[in-house]
Amino acid sequence: MTNSRLKKLTPQFKNILRVSSKIAQKSGYNIYLVGGVVRDLLLNRPVFDLDIAVEGDAILLVKRLAEYLNKSFRKHHSFGTATLYYGNHKIDFATARQEKYPHYGALPKVRVSFLEKDLARRDFSINAMAISLNKKNYGQLIDFYGGRRDLKNGLIRILYPESFLDDPLRILRAVRFEQRFSFRVEPKTFLLMKNAIEAGALQLVHPHRLRNELILFLSEARPYRYIKRLYSLENFNFIDESVILNKNDFRFFIRAQSAIKFYKKEFKESNEIKSWVVYLAGILLNLSDEKYLEVINRFGFRKNQRDQAISIKEDLGKIKKLDHKRKASDIYKRLKSYSPEALVFFYAYFPKKNLRKNIRLFLEVLSQQKIKVKGRDLKKIGIQSSSFMGEVLKELFYRKLDKGLKTKGQELKEAKEIIKTNKS
Ligand code: CTP
Repeated sequence: MTNSRLKKLTPQFKNILRVSSKIAQKSGYNIYLVGGVVRDLLLNRPVFDLDIAVEGDAILLVKRLAEYLNKSFRKHHSFGTATLYYGNHKIDFATARQEKYPHYGALPKVRVSFLEKDLARRDFSINAMAISLNKKNYGQLIDFYGGRRDLKNGLIRILYPESFLDDPLRILRAVRFEQRFSFRVEPKTFLLMKNAIEAGALQLVHPHRLRNELILFLSEARPYRYIKRLYSLENFNFIDESVILNKNDFRFFIRAQSAIKFYKKEFKESNEIKSWVVYLAGILLNLSDEKYLEVINRFGFRKNQRDQAISIKEDLGKIKKLDHKRKASDIYKRLKSYSPEALVFFYAYFPKKNLRKNIRLFLEVLSQQKIKVKGRDLKKIGIQSSSFMGEVLKELFYRKLDKGLKTKGQELKEAKEIIKTNKS
């Protein structure tokens, strides 16, 4: 009965937990599944990664576990944490802070108190539950702070009054969970959250931490509602006080959601699209060029995402001109250097028929094309210079797009034409 929650996990996860439990027991440690995964199990939502709290040496436990399972792991000595990699999944183990509880090994009561204190430091009651992975009560839910009740009532509730000041990122997390689960921020929590916002708590957070949370925030499925809610609460002041969003921007976010959905469906193999880039560029778009760049730099985004965001803002004018019937090779030349994120942005930003048609043509057809004629085929017909060969192949590719050449024979014939005109 107590195991029923864990039964919802995949066989792979169940196996890892069983093995972890046994190795922990042999090592004399107590371990617990904690945090978001417990919440998701209770909500019947899919679980991708696991978080385990260890009353003992987490690094040593993971080392033993990795050896037993023949899997790789990574340790972080300064945090006393270790991560086990299992297929596509990640299982994080965190060490109990033994120095704070020097007697816990000797006193079982204090052992419980460790878990209680660990959970008490967390953000919301719904994220502060644990499931025992210990033999004596394997699978039992541990809920000191009314997390299950709040889950049932759809409430986001902090555990202590200074929570938002201790970690202002929890403001973004509150909005994220509220919107993700269609919950409500509990009234007292809401008041404290508003106070923290008014005190400018978010502006005090290091930009890199803000960036990481913002990425999570904007990577949620259909984040339009999230953006709207956060804007109504905080105006995105933590990004910059000059961020101003109007009706059109919100319409854009809705179109962006559809465009991203369309892209993910049509291009399943390229599911990699970082949708947050599209939304972030939308949020920042009204900033001046200098401000836009300053914000992007301040948050320290990775180079390619930084470049994508910049090209979106810089090239809007150029892309707008694509709203006409164009030669296929023209469309290709104009769009080939953009990332999927930028293309999706343009698609959502300009609800213009021809422009959208051109972007779709590029994504669905033109960008997938390859010529069948190779350099060695050109060598056979007497082309020696590699730079000339490169020119011919490039031109041939464009003609293939424009003329719809299908067979290698058609391409070779065209290549000969190109060579003839370029020689004479
Ligand atoms: N946590 C916290 N305060 C934060 C971040 C995290 O208390 N600012 C705690 C919460 O208990 C959370 C756990 O750490 O459940 C794990 O954090 P994370 O993986 O970021 O969140 P999840 O709750 O798992 O959320 P998600 O479903 O978005 O991964």
